[in-house]
Amino acid sequence: MERKAFIKHPLVHLFHIFFLSHLVFCQLDYRFYGSTCPNLTKIVRYGVWSAIANDTRMAASLIRLHFHDCFVNGCDGSILLDDVGSTFVGEKTAMPNQNSVRGYEVIDRIKADVEKFCPSTVSCTDILTLAARDAATIAGARYWMVALGRRDGRTANKTAANQLPSPFESLDNIISKFNSKGLDTKDVVVLSGAHTIGFAQCFTFKHRLFNFGGSGKPDPDLETSFLKGLQNVCPDQTDSDSTLVALDSPTTNRFDNGYYRNLVNSSGLLQSDHVLSTDNRTASMVVNYSKYPYLFLKDFGASMVKMANIGVLTGQDGEIRKDCKVVN
Ligand code: HEM
Repeated sequence: MERKAFIKHPLVHLFHIFFLSHLVFCQLDYRFYGSTCPNLTKIVRYGVWSAIANDTRMAASLIRLHFHDCFVNGCDGSILLDDVGSTFVGEKTAMPNQNSVRGYEVIDRIKADVEKFCPSTVSCTDILTLAARDAATIAGARYWMVALGRRDGRTANKTAANQLPSPFESLDNIISKFNSKGLDTKDVVVLSGAHTIGFAQCFTFKHRLFNFGGSGKPDPDLETSFLKGLQNVCPDQTDSDSTLVALDSPTTNRFDNGYYRNLVNSSGLLQSDHVLSTDNRTASMVVNYSKYPYLFLKDFGASMVKMANIGVLTGQDGEIRKDCKVVN
């Protein structure tokens, strides 16, 4: 009797409507490979852990690889595709990626391991999404859940990859590029916090060190001792262009809020980072994250989930590649 009354309760109907529509419209699922590849998360985590044990910077590189995948054609693994002669043009040789993005071989290796246990089942882009989460958490970020079921694209877009946000462009441009992917200004501030780990080449910020905006002087906003250090490591000559500098030098390998503390101390490396602390749309968020590490770590997970949902292929769209480097 009691059970019948429960089933008829209008809230139950509402729940079903909500739950079913959730399944229809948002086809990603936390247990997507629960029966088809039960060991998936363990295989990925082990692969990421051993890559980072061998090369600490790989944590940063995997997070960036995921970002550069999702911002071009959506999160579809398109960045992982190799060029094939003149018949297929991939994204690896696009300007923001070439000699800069790393970690392709880590994803290829994990995919090969996953194929041994669950052949033709798990997409490369889901592996990359899990790998980025694991990389961040191994470096110190707070864990977040990743819904799965993305499928791999059959195309790549080098022209779009050349339009990835650049450290030389205005905050207006960067915000509108994020907006075009369904991300907002807060996501720009939060996701830029990934620059709490990893490295940048001197050429990406050297214009701030010697002749900022044609003034013949460094960027006046750069803190003096930070500036001196950078001028030493990145002297004003082209042979220093590819020298690496930590994006957050006090805690280079630690996923913390050090990035925001640097920004409030005029010690942000990239121009596109620094501007977040001076623009009135973003400055108060920077101050808050510099004070409250917990707030940043919580918001970072939420923004990464948003980024991982950009333009995903599900259902019958796309494919499950066997080798992340080539379409089937
Ligand atoms: C907001 C616009 C962004 C710009 C302009 C930008 C620009 C850059 C640049 C220029 C580098 C150095 C690349 C090199 O020197 O080879 C870099 C590194 C990095 N970026 Fe960003 N980035 C942005 C957003 C993001 C986002 C959204 C993420 C991830 C959520 C991210 C994660 C990283 C990481 C982890 C590194 C270090 C990679 C490594 O050491 O291998 N960036 N970024």
